[in-house]
Amino acid sequence: MPTVEFRGEKIECEENAVLRNVLKRAKKSPHNGKAKYANCHGNGTCGTCAVQITGEVSEKGRKESIRLGMPPHHPSHDLRLSCQARVQGDVTVLKYPGLFGQHLDQDPHPPVKDADPDTDTDTEA
Ligand code: FES
Repeated sequence: MPTVEFRGEKIECEENAVLRNVLKRAKKSPHNGKAKYANCHGNGTCGTCAVQITGEVSEKGRKESIRLGMPPHHPSHDLRLSCQARVQGDVTVLKYPGLFGQHLDQDPHPPVKDADPDTDTDTEA
């Protein structure tokens, strides 16, 4: 059973589970700020669920490549849409700042236990 490591926590999931669903079921969000409420609900069109993944996941599809090729994303960014990526082995997932998680020039969000509860907007309400 693959393990997803996200913000210092490990979540087990079924092989081929959609990453966004795995995170949401564990009460974690791949979205920042208001994008938690205003997103395409996993259709691969809004781009707000973008994360950086290390480990085994499904190949990037056409829809995902198109969305990640449009601003504020860029084809050179090493990001995946968590709603399109399927977990195929142990993975580590980083979420960067910005409404779309596009600020790769900044530090990714810290482990949940180290986050400031007054400013952290990533944990599901
Ligand atoms: S939730 Fe909109 S692209 Fe993933």
